[in-house]
Amino acid sequence: MSPRINFLSREFMENPHPHLAELRRQGPVVQVDPGGIWAVTHHDEVQHVLKSPRLFSSSGLRFAFSPAWLGRTNPLSYSIAFMDPPHHGRLRALVTQAFTPKALARLESRIHATARKCVDDMLEKRQVDFVDALSTAIPASVIGHLLGLDESRHAQLKQWTLDIATLSGVAPDDTTGMARCRATVEELDGYSRQMLADRRREPREDMVSDLVQARVGTEALTDDELVGFFVALLVGGLETTVSLLSHCARMFAMRPELLPRLRATPTLIPRFVEETLRYEPPILSIPRTCTEDVTLAGVTLPKGATVLVSLVSASRDEKHFPDGDRFILERENAQQIYFGHGIHFCIGARLTRLEARIALEELVSRVDRVELRTEHVEWTPSLIVRGPATLPVELFPA
Ligand code: HEM
Repeated sequence: MSPRINFLSREFMENPHPHLAELRRQGPVVQVDPGGIWAVTHHDEVQHVLKSPRLFSSSGLRFAFSPAWLGRTNPLSYSIAFMDPPHHGRLRALVTQAFTPKALARLESRIHATARKCVDDMLEKRQVDFVDALSTAIPASVIGHLLGLDESRHAQLKQWTLDIATLSGVAPDDTTGMARCRATVEELDGYSRQMLADRRREPREDMVSDLVQARVGTEALTDDELVGFFVALLVGGLETTVSLLSHCARMFAMRPELLPRLRATPTLIPRFVEETLRYEPPILSIPRTCTEDVTLAGVTLPKGATVLVSLVSASRDEKHFPDGDRFILERENAQQIYFGHGIHFCIGARLTRLEARIALEELVSRVDRVELRTEHVEWTPSLIVRGPATLPVELFPA
């Protein structure tokens, strides 16, 4: 029997696609490392798990992927992403109100201004880390603004979310990494609670003030739930978008004909974004816990088992995406799964599409070519998010 594939190994992080293709050949439900977790690799089964929250719970995972020292202080533990019905629906109804098309339209000019400034700076320097120079700056400005954070805090958002995303990937013997994550969790928790107290005293025109005042029936949200929201938006909204924008830049470097094509026909940009999301989904896999013994594709998963639903694998499943290893700009992505499926479907999908479209409009109108300045991309170690940790590039003006 061949050794189990490890989702945290360097070879897997560098290029998970051949490994996942091999897993798909083995079957829709296969054991992987670390820890012999069950991975769900076929699109049909992935969809089935995601639309069956009664059998595959999100809440059981609050602590599964974090080190023991975090215990109940894990700020993700009160996030809606880690809740099941009926509590999930009650809280979700509140946040979705903040993501209406009208609310998003108000963000457009901010995104354009941030993207324009990023492109100005990048063209002046020519050699930059794309992750820092554009991928992070745009979502940090949007999320920071939505949450009413001081501009001075925006640069910090990235490190916070990175450390939280990394929690699932820090090796227990990496004491430096652990200490950094621990310091971040404590700082984030303290900062969030201080901000909640400030907004209670002095409400502003921002999402945090709205949430502080929100009522579900007669109940107010608890501080833990509010911190959970805050962290969910940070983690859900920042690192994923950073990853998407960096994957777009990587595509431009790997397929130099694409950028001039988009400059000539900017209406193709949304299509390019969708195919990049499919080809390199920012969310590698999402975890669920079995609430009872469940048989999935002939495999019996015991009650309490963790399953990793692989969105990257499902997005290349040949049954749904013929010639899935090819980047095809014209592809119809009707079966897209990269924003999830069912009750937890991404709240920020519309916002992400807006951010990516505007960022790329600014980029392709002024940049002719993006070249990678490294042989090996360094990847963020995580079971959940997949994106370059840094992306040294050189830009050539149009
Ligand atoms: C949920 C992907 C951007 C906020 C999800 C889920 C996926 C996803 C796959 C489902 C998780 C699950 O089923 O457990 C992405 C990708 C993004 C992105 C690929 C960008 C490229 C955003 C943004 C925000 C956001 C910009 C907010 C500002 C959330 C929240 C949830 C979520 C709050 C939890 C929803 C729930 O549990 O009901 N996202 N997301 N995401 N996303 Fe996103």
